[in-house]
Amino acid sequence: MGKLRKTTRLPSGAERALLVREMFDRIAGRYDLLNTVMTAGLHRLWNRKVVRATGLGPGGKALDLACGTGSLTRDLAKKVGPDGYVLGVDFSREMLRAAKPAPNVEYRLGDATHLEGVPSGAFDAATIAYGARNIPDLDALFSEMARTLRPGGVAVCLEIARPTGRVSSTFYGLWFDRIVPKLGGLISGDASAYSYLPESVKEFVAPGELADIIERNGLQDVTWKRLAGGIITLHRGIRRPRAS
Ligand SMILES: C[S@@+](CC[C@H](N)C(=O)[O-])C[C@H]1O[C@@H](n2cnc3c(N)ncnc32)[C@H](O)[C@@H]1O
Repeated sequence: MGKLRKTTRLPSGAERALLVREMFDRIAGRYDLLNTVMTAGLHRLWNRKVVRATGLGPGGKALDLACGTGSLTRDLAKKVGPDGYVLGVDFSREMLRAAKPAPNVEYRLGDATHLEGVPSGAFDAATIAYGARNIPDLDALFSEMARTLRPGGVAVCLEIARPTGRVSSTFYGLWFDRIVPKLGGLISGDASAYSYLPESVKEFVAPGELADIIERNGLQDVTWKRLAGGIITLHRGIRRPRAS
């Protein structure tokens, strides 16, 4: 399978999934470093906002989808403490291999749109950070989140977005469209992976549309807000009493 070229529109369906998985397998060893460089360390702050939005407390159970190397997974695990449990699922074997273990965390290889062996109604919170944009079938993703949550459980989706304000749009154009692909290519040795990033943000659904997709898949009271001048969006929904 070929690498993504800057000028091509992104493929859809299974072909896209395969390209994404192979890409994360290739950059896994450098992912944490690149994440810190590209967000200037702010991803830790955004993780904290996700953890807060879940409403989790000690003893809680969380499912972190597209968990990658487990940055958010471990922050969730700290929140639920030794009596809690967090399951991190990712389809890239190499990203999971690079994930640091924690006593109350289980990492599992799997597809976020088809969670084999993950029970229904078992979690207080289900999260996904910077994963949704890589997943062509968003209905399947959010219906799996709804299915695995207990009624009243909370789903949170954190994602990169194109800002609307003039200042942040200018910054975004410079940083994500120009600097990140070059810097990412240099550090990871994989230029295609980091030109994929702005392409995938460009092709991703608008925040209002994402809220509608979340709502039609068994979650209610869906709200969303922009963080960091609009570069990040945080969506939150509550599992309906009964699956729709
Ligand atoms: C940008 S990384 C985000 C990792 C992590 N959530 C974080 O905050 O650093 C995106 C991750 O999504 C995973 N991914 C993409 N599509 C997936 C799918 N359908 N099922 C499971 N994981 C998926 C990739 O393998 C990759 O590890």
